[in-house]
Amino acid sequence: MQEECKPTMNTGLRGVTVASTKVSDVIGAEGKLIYRGYLVTDLAARTSFEEVVHLLLHEKLPDKEELEHIKQQLTAERHIPGALIDALKTCPSDSLPMDILQAAVPMLANHDPEAADQNKEAAVRKAVRLIAKLATVLAAWERIRTGKTPVSPDPAMDHAENFLYMLFGEKPDSDLVHFFDVALVLHAEHSFNASTFAAREVASTRAHMYAAVSAAIGSLSGELHGGANVRVMQMLKEIDTVDRVKAYINTVLDEGRLIMGLGHAVYQTDDPRAHILAPMAKRAGELAGETKWYDISTVLEKEGKAAFKARKGIDIYVNVDFYSASLYYAMGIALDLFSPLFAISRVAGWTAHVIEEQYAGAAPKPTLYRPQSKYVGEYCGPDECRFVPLDER
Ligand SMILES: CC(C)(COP(=O)(O)OP(=O)(O)OC[C@H]1O[C@@H](n2cnc3c(N)ncnc32)[C@H](O)[C@@H]1OP(=O)(O)O)[C@@H](O)C(=O)NCCC(=O)NCCS
Repeated sequence: MQEECKPTMNTGLRGVTVASTKVSDVIGAEGKLIYRGYLVTDLAARTSFEEVVHLLLHEKLPDKEELEHIKQQLTAERHIPGALIDALKTCPSDSLPMDILQAAVPMLANHDPEAADQNKEAAVRKAVRLIAKLATVLAAWERIRTGKTPVSPDPAMDHAENFLYMLFGEKPDSDLVHFFDVALVLHAEHSFNASTFAAREVASTRAHMYAAVSAAIGSLSGELHGGANVRVMQMLKEIDTVDRVKAYINTVLDEGRLIMGLGHAVYQTDDPRAHILAPMAKRAGELAGETKWYDISTVLEKEGKAAFKARKGIDIYVNVDFYSASLYYAMGIALDLFSPLFAISRVAGWTAHVIEEQYAGAAPKPTLYRPQSKYVGEYCGPDECRFVPLDER
């Protein structure tokens, strides 16, 4: 008989520590998210996405010279192969943008002579390439699927500004550039969530950076992970007016459904990122001439928390998706690009984790992931499997 292994429940690995990491930490009880020793609230207030990329990949905040260098590297890597653009043009316009992003990754590998190079310096270069190029792929796809010509990257612009420029085809408003840069910082890393674990699991086999990032994008595409911000916006649209918020909450809770954007598997306070995104959502709404979605969100937060307390006797808190939805919507970004926006930021965290997984940034050295499962199927014989030939079945 098979040896019993523990735990035997379908735990989803909750509460199981599978590795050590120096990349980030979430202190759920205190509402703190920390990238390599720095609070994300400080990073969002005082750094750019490029600085955070340097922090995650090189384990330190850059000095001025290093910042200039990482910016140059990212800028130099923004272009994507013409063959990839041609391939995107063959995809149906209703292809899911997360599928497009995921499909682009192995194609980028095919055009990278260093794809299979296993040394650490090459891995860092591949990380920079992926961070730079995924933004270009996403912007190009948005243009192509809406019948427009992809916009070439502008080397004079930083990462956030250049992405919005490639997406919309015109120089973006400076406030929106700042908001998007902050959003990129806030979404860049979040410890061992499902997609990061997927990346690390693939990396643990010594597969290359592109294979790991492709797996991570697939993981992020699920509605329980990267898809929640879209669901928040759909919910806001369903509510439609502030005076319908209370009735909506009651209906949803009566039916045992979820209020999207509330609750978190790790935080036992408001998600620190939500408090940074909220004022930006408000301002972006004002710039767009429509604060309705932000207004509904604030009332929903207040009334949702109160209803939850009254019904269940427990507190519930806002998560990162609650206000990013109305922010992105006010910026004029299509709903189905919300999760891909998450991906083009989180790729910085994924690649940092892949490097750590493969080059042992934290002791003890990582090993090949190989969990066990408990077999609950049948054995065909009394002591062992008895094969039944085809004509006897
Ligand atoms: C994130 C999430 C999966 C965490 O769930 P969890 O770990 O079960 O959270 P808790 O243990 O605190 O839940 C306690 C109770 O509140 C309920 N609950 C949690 N979040 C809820 C929400 N947003 N709306 C309604 N009920 C909710 C749970 O179902 C559970 O109910 P029960 O005691 O009757 O089983 C959950 O809060 C959720 O689905 N939120 C909405 C989706 C979302 O915004 N996801 C993005 C996360 S970043």
